[in-house]
Amino acid sequence: MGCQVLDAPCGDGFYAVALARCLYPFGKVTAADLSDACLDRARTAVGRRTRLSSVKFVKADSYHLPFDDDLFDVVWCARSLISLDDPVAALKEMRRVVRPGGIVTVLEDDEFHRVVLNGPVDLEIDVHRAVAEAARKRYGSCAGVSPSRRMYRFLLDAGLRLEWRKTFAADRHAPFDPAVRQYLRIYLKEKRTFIVDYLSNSALAAFDRAIDPGNPMSPFCRPDAELTCLTTLFLARK
Ligand SMILES: C[S@@+](CC[C@H](N)C(=O)[O-])C[C@H]1O[C@@H](n2cnc3c(N)ncnc32)[C@H](O)[C@@H]1O
Repeated sequence: MGCQVLDAPCGDGFYAVALARCLYPFGKVTAADLSDACLDRARTAVGRRTRLSSVKFVKADSYHLPFDDDLFDVVWCARSLISLDDPVAALKEMRRVVRPGGIVTVLEDDEFHRVVLNGPVDLEIDVHRAVAEAARKRYGSCAGVSPSRRMYRFLLDAGLRLEWRKTFAADRHAPFDPAVRQYLRIYLKEKRTFIVDYLSNSALAAFDRAIDPGNPMSPFCRPDAELTCLTTLFLARK
């Protein structure tokens, strides 16, 4: 029957595709998400790249997964605990549907260290302050954007045993290729949207100058620009 993996929440299906490829032809992936729009995108992504038969799509709330106890060998949860108000309740539900001895795998970031650019330090500190303020307002605490630094406690509280943890770093340096430039554009745009109301006028002007691709000192043009992305993988056993 092969390995049974649950990808929840699956979002646009990026990881469901990767999992389906790894498991084909023996395992099966179930991709679950609460959003119909995300499930549609995931279906399209999987349909384009792998055999649809190896992936099943289910509309599901991560707090009330519509699956029997002990059903899956592995649950994969990527970059989603930030979207869930009660990460421990969601992890308990993942624990319930994984078999005894099975694994819950969590990939998470820490917003304060997710993307590190070698730009001006003063501006970076202003941005961190604004992220903390925005997170307090949005999630009730500035730790809300940093699930990875609290993951050990979350896993324990959910009754899972942390077996392995590793932080991966992707390093790039100028000149960035088109994919990295696109990633950087999206990242900086999202960052600006998140912090725009929490920066002073002068800091916002400095931020806008610093990220303007037409500015020779921006990371898009500087010959010494460096970009590091950090993400942490946690493997916990039931
Ligand atoms: C940041 S995305 C990450 C998705 C995917 N794992 C990835 O890495 O691309 C978070 C996902 O959580 C889903 N989501 C939010 N609340 C949810 C809930 N209560 N139950 C299930 N999915 C939920 C959203 O629809 C979204 O697809």
